[in-house]
Amino acid sequence: MTRVFVTRPVPDAGLRLLEAALGADAVFMRQEDSAIPRNALLEHVGGAEAVLCMLSERMDAEVMDAAGTQLKVIANLAVGYDNIDVEAARTRGIHVTNTPDVLTDATADLAWALILSAARRVGEGERFLRADKWQGWGPKQLLGMSIFGKTLGIFGMGRIGQAVAQRAAGFNMDVIYHDANRLSPEVETALQATFVDKETLLASSDVLSIHCPLNPQTRHAFTWTAFEKMKPTAILVNTARGPVVKEEDLCRALEQGLIFAAGLDVYEHEPAVCPGLMHQERAVLLPHLGSATTETRDAMASLAANNIIAALQGRRPPNCLSCCG
Ligand code: GLV
Ligand code: GLV
Repeated sequence: MTRVFVTRPVPDAGLRLLEAALGADAVFMRQEDSAIPRNALLEHVGGAEAVLCMLSERMDAEVMDAAGTQLKVIANLAVGYDNIDVEAARTRGIHVTNTPDVLTDATADLAWALILSAARRVGEGERFLRADKWQGWGPKQLLGMSIFGKTLGIFGMGRIGQAVAQRAAGFNMDVIYHDANRLSPEVETALQATFVDKETLLASSDVLSIHCPLNPQTRHAFTWTAFEKMKPTAILVNTARGPVVKEEDLCRALEQGLIFAAGLDVYEHEPAVCPGLMHQERAVLLPHLGSATTETRDAMASLAANNIIAALQGRRPPNCLSCCG
């Protein structure tokens, strides 16, 4: 009998754990390696006690009710869980879990890949070379921006924001940050990071990297008004969630030179990307790869599996977001 529904193929590490703990018959993993259509999701969750789902799937009251009252846990294969209606789950006694910690370093590394690529025009340079336009070294060719010794601003100083800050020491950067919650003085000292208000973050950052969760307070935290306050030489990087930035406004801001460049791993309406960005040389665009390393995805799948196993065995899942107390 199927007890666990996995919405698309996940790394074997996670699947093996589920099968070993619950039996191979207990797990149904959809084989198509593509986003599950809404109607298929509503159909396949029926009767499941656990769902291992993706960040691109909206897990709302309708899905929970389509599953049935035996549903015990929704395990997201992501640290961000803005796709899940946690309140609806809580009122139904369903556990919601995520995959924190194991993807912190991979995501921080990718943020730095975007920072360096945007500052040094890596994507543009590569396109230039591959288009066979390169006539040889030039003293004024494709000049980017030095980041050594500049100011790194971090919006959202959770685990990932802090890991990005740690890496800034290697570039001798001053780190400033803004977050709804200020860090303790000890952590601020260890990271050499200074808390500032959002206005100061906008005005002072040479590189501004976004690491907040998506919620009603952070949705469209960056619009035209914010870009107007940034330096014309600034670089904006987003590896968090697309809707934190109003993508249309960012596109116009780049076109009009309000800021120098952007490095994006996430988009407002994934997988769609604002058409203007597609033609914008100063935008470095990646397809949501923050946690995409073999090691990290194995660890995420294992964590999601362990959360499911705990819930189905009547224990508190290690990464429960909906548990009280
Ligand atoms: C990826 O975006 C995640 O939230 O894990
Ligand atoms: C995500 O886990 C973050 O803390 O930034």
